Amino acid sequence: MSDFSGEKIINSLRRLVNLLSTLLGLVLILGVSLIYLELYYDPQHFEVFAKNQDEESVTDLAESTAEIDLIKDGIHIPTGLIDDVNLDLVVSNCTACHSAKLITQNRSSREGWQSMIRWMQESQKLWDLGENEEAILDYLAKNYAPDQKGRRVPLTNIEWYELEP
Ligand code: HEC
Repeated sequence: MSDFSGEKIINSLRRLVNLLSTLLGLVLILGVSLIYLELYYDPQHFEVFAKNQDEESVTDLAESTAEIDLIKDGIHIPTGLIDDVNLDLVVSNCTACHSAKLITQNRSSREGWQSMIRWMQESQKLWDLGENEEAILDYLAKNYAPDQKGRRVPLTNIEWYELEP
């Protein structure tokens, strides 16, 4: 009786081992195929996918060109920059590396803007702006000048009263 159940246990163990090795084999095949796909998959080999991708990039392009000129309430919507003469130069030269927020959140004099440009040229690989530099500085100094009228005038002639504890 005990022999018989021992045999039974061994048989089920065998079946279990068989099952496990089949599973392992399947997982291996799947893994290797995934790695192969990852390494060698090129959408252009599959016309259907390639076609979809082309369509997408065409619509992307259409959307982005529609956005490029979008001005609302004097603000260039894609960047948040103020619409003014030479906006295009600022967009094309000053938003390539970082968000235009660095500009819109800054205020400075013409000299200040110029020294920021020099600093970026010396340390951040900003290119020589050539004759565009003057035009860009015109734009920045006019639209992002140190801002006095934006802040309220300091309060004067106030009758302070003592706070009772
Ligand atoms: C080649 C890349 C590049 C271009 C193009 C570029 N910048 Fe920058 N700029 C940087 C880097 C990098 C920083 C530092 C960003 C940071 O600190 O996260 C920076 C920082 C700034 C800052 C913040 C400076 C500060 O003191 O905090 C301002 C303002 C700025 N850029 C304005 C401009 C303007 C205006 C132009 C166009 C003339 C421009 N950037 C073009 C790379 C560039």
